[in-house]
Amino acid sequence: MGQVIKPKGFIRKLYPTDLAAFREHLLRLDADTRHSRFGMGASDSFVTEYAERCFALVGVTFGYFEDGMIRGAAELRDMGHDGQDGEAAFSIENGWRGRGLGTALFKRVIRAARNRRMKRLYASCLTHNRAMQALARKFEAELTFDSGDVIGVLNADEATAESRFSEALDDANGFATAVLDLQRRWLQPLHLKTF
Ligand SMILES: CC(C)(COP(=O)(O)OP(=O)(O)OC[C@H]1O[C@@H](n2cnc3c(N)ncnc32)[C@H](O)[C@@H]1OP(=O)(O)O)[C@@H](O)C(=O)NCCC(=O)NCCS
Repeated sequence: MGQVIKPKGFIRKLYPTDLAAFREHLLRLDADTRHSRFGMGASDSFVTEYAERCFALVGVTFGYFEDGMIRGAAELRDMGHDGQDGEAAFSIENGWRGRGLGTALFKRVIRAARNRRMKRLYASCLTHNRAMQALARKFEAELTFDSGDVIGVLNADEATAESRFSEALDDANGFATAVLDLQRRWLQPLHLKTF
């Protein structure tokens, strides 16, 4: 069995300035992964349009960054119904799977859902999607599983001061990193012109 390489990047919330990196991540997904992620075939133009619409939707998207590229993402969308229902979706690129990234992103999604007082989490998990089923099962303590498309109903353990504080702390760190990323991208062309 090949060696499992530990992730060397970091996870943070995505901002509109991350649109291009998020779109590139989704475009790198192969046909099978897109099918699992979107529950249907997804063309490049669909994926491009989806990425552009994503930041306008109510919810939150987390990205796993490595060497300036997003290699994994998790989205939590508010599905309406007084904000009690959320839809979760995950995408980890081939080559970055099986390293715990799905687990780390799922933890963020559950914390974000709790902090937003959501009660149920849905996901389009196809019946043959063993990886997603295995990932969801790791959260048996936090979720009660339902049938069909529902990943789970969040157990009564609601948001606490600790869960809100830890999300706020991650946000502050993530925002600072996002600003630095943006500055780097702006400064890069200026730097190149000096050569
Ligand atoms: C589902 C997905 C997000 C899992 O991401 P990941 O980074 O590989 O997940 P992790 O490494 O955290 O693994 C989570 C658990 O699932 C298990 N697992 C991973 N791939 C598996 C597979 N193909 N079959 C069975 N179990 C699998 C792992 O063993 C792990 O359990 P463990 O910690 O007890 O060993 C990823 O495979 C993916 O992006 N798939 C394509 C898109 C998709 O299906 N999205 C879900 C629907 S929105």
